[in-house]
Amino acid sequence: MNILLLGGGGREHALAWKMAQSKKVEKLYIAPGNAGTAVVGQNVPLKADDFEGIKDFVLGHEIQMVVVGPEDPLVKGVYDFFKQDERLKDIPVIGPSRQGAVLEGSKDFAKGFMQRHSIPTAAYRTFTSETLEDGLKFLETLSAPYVLKADGLCAGKGVLILPTLEEARRELKEMLGGMFGSASSSVVIEEFLSGVECSVFILTDGRHYKILPEAKDYKRIGEHDTGLNTGGMGSVSPVPFATPEWMRKVEDRIIRPTVEGLAEEGIDYKGFIFFGLINVDGDPKVIEYNVRMGDPETESVMLRIKSDLVDLLEGVAQGDLDQRTLEIDDRSAVCVMLVSGGYPEAYEKGFPITGIENVTDSIVFHAGTAWKDGQVVTAGGRVIAVSSYGRDKDEALKLSFEQARKINFEKKYFRSDIGQDL
Ligand code: AMP
Ligand code: GLY
Repeated sequence: MNILLLGGGGREHALAWKMAQSKKVEKLYIAPGNAGTAVVGQNVPLKADDFEGIKDFVLGHEIQMVVVGPEDPLVKGVYDFFKQDERLKDIPVIGPSRQGAVLEGSKDFAKGFMQRHSIPTAAYRTFTSETLEDGLKFLETLSAPYVLKADGLCAGKGVLILPTLEEARRELKEMLGGMFGSASSSVVIEEFLSGVECSVFILTDGRHYKILPEAKDYKRIGEHDTGLNTGGMGSVSPVPFATPEWMRKVEDRIIRPTVEGLAEEGIDYKGFIFFGLINVDGDPKVIEYNVRMGDPETESVMLRIKSDLVDLLEGVAQGDLDQRTLEIDDRSAVCVMLVSGGYPEAYEKGFPITGIENVTDSIVFHAGTAWKDGQVVTAGGRVIAVSSYGRDKDEALKLSFEQARKINFEKKYFRSDIGQDL
């Protein structure tokens, strides 16, 4: 079958790498892809949200399945665009409908959904500029630190955790005053939860689901979780506290009620669900839903899937996911992200990357790279994910750190403490 994968980061390189191993794939295209995806498939110069361009490409290249990497095209309704088009409607899109993507696109919707289905999450209330005074009063009933979340998508910047009531009051006014444009015209204020986070992923066909390997992501730029938040500086799978007993709680209290809740509410959902969880005294609670795989979690999770991913995706499309097998590798897998100096603030692009060819014991996933004048150059904040297997996380991490030192570009930076807290 011919497959089109939308997106162009490290997550998409890892997905493409895994799909390319399937005997079921004839041609794999990635739009727009990066310098790494060009090696496992064929890049297509189309933006992931250029629906008309995607339509022409899909019809012109006999594409039989579209897999969506990032949330943006999903929130914009790529699934519905296909379903409503006479010529595209029978081509499966792996990813939720626009309505399903609201689980990520609106924090208020996600909180309401969890409340309706008794899914454990932080207590909350939502406010708008009309109810600012109530919001300020609500803050007084909580204790520090205060968690404020812009309702809409803000490229990962919409969550503020504030140490004092004074700052929380000021930021609430700013957010409702348009700090993130229309994305913060509603603000969720929620209870602060204390615990270690864990990312759990499933694939669902809307009725059945398969639980993929879990992972822990390292979000801060600095070692020992200091400094600004990034898209993610590395990941480790499995996560030690995600024992079979804990995962049973996750399945019973969170995964099953979510899949059943979506079906009950008539929401069309065939794709990945990413549960951002926090472990509060042994009990999992949902911090957020994402309607796609995590990045950089995918760069370790894909290594642990032994089965044919395309077969599983076919199960999603055909609604018989229960008939497919998911076998998981019991080795550990990790990824260490090499980033541009300055990231997540301003950074330069276009630096030549050398030494990738010297990497022997790891898998190199490209995140922000491009081809320029016959050379691979930096093209984003997160540049390359160095992924490795090991009998345990320490063995895998040792490999990734060794190999990470072989790849060079100006102002390269990575966190050398990934996985050390576990
Ligand atoms: P989100 O975009 O919802 O994932 O939030 C970004 C980060 O903020 C999360 O990964 C958590 O580290 C933190 N966070 C969000 N909500 C809470 C909460 N209720 N309690 C504690 N930390 C939170
Ligand atoms: N690694 C977190 C995310 O993909 O949102």
